[in-house]
Amino acid sequence: MRHLLGIEGWRREEIEALLDRAEAHLPGGSASATVLQGRVVANVFFEDSTRTRTSFEMAAKTLGAEVLNWTAQGSSISKGETLLDTVRNIEATGPVALVIRHRSSGAPHLAARHVRCAVINAGDGTHEHPSQALLDAFTLRRRWGRLDGRTVLIVGDILHSRVARSNILCLKALGARVVVCGPPTLLPMGVEQLGAEVAMLLDPVLPQADAVMCLRLQTERQSESFFPSAREFSRLYGLHAGRADKMKEGALVMHPGPINRGVELAPAVADGARSVILEQVANGVAVRRAILEVCV
Ligand code: CP
Repeated sequence: MRHLLGIEGWRREEIEALLDRAEAHLPGGSASATVLQGRVVANVFFEDSTRTRTSFEMAAKTLGAEVLNWTAQGSSISKGETLLDTVRNIEATGPVALVIRHRSSGAPHLAARHVRCAVINAGDGTHEHPSQALLDAFTLRRRWGRLDGRTVLIVGDILHSRVARSNILCLKALGARVVVCGPPTLLPMGVEQLGAEVAMLLDPVLPQADAVMCLRLQTERQSESFFPSAREFSRLYGLHAGRADKMKEGALVMHPGPINRGVELAPAVADGARSVILEQVANGVAVRRAILEVCV
């Protein structure tokens, strides 16, 4: 694998092999800590990030690499420089991989066609966020052993979510049942073709779930008059303590972050016994170490 642009097209055995590799990259694991010694990984973030950027930085540094952190803010993007000129100029400084986040779907794919180094998609528009889906699957696999027959319920703004799309593809490939739930305005046309079942009401499907993945309203990708408002969304789809009590015993609560506390997820649930949210973040470093090792 030279680039990681999406989960689309991955076979189960390829995903399992990457997750097996990630096991070796957990703290105390057998993976080499010097595999990227003397190399540079460039984080190229045209959109803001906390988890993905720091996680790739931690992954690269703990494999021995130097990390170049480029962000659009303060760059020559403000003078009209294009995406391709930007990535080609960054590549010319010598990194072995570009970890790219961009608000436009397909931007990392375009970059990959014009550079010689590895390109890793760190989230492109509403399209894919493959490393997030892999770390989510890794977290569930570590909890359950296998995903076959398990039901994962993804709740919220499915329409604008690259996390949802990559997760549907990844979880289905690993044998899970995936149900997406949200208001009709936030459910994309044709989501069933990815293999997901669709539910518009949360309360009837909640007790079926072995894990509930809550997604935030991506207000930055919506118009001001969008339905539902945060208050309406919270009432109908928010996972508050009363709702969480209706979940199966042992069912898990996930969130890719950032959380809008009190909207899609109540603080007591986000920080409660069912939550694996910080476990997702911790596992993300091992998964991204494995991605870098395989791509570079
Ligand atoms: N999950 C995720 O992509 O978070 P960031 O936007 O903080 O990177």
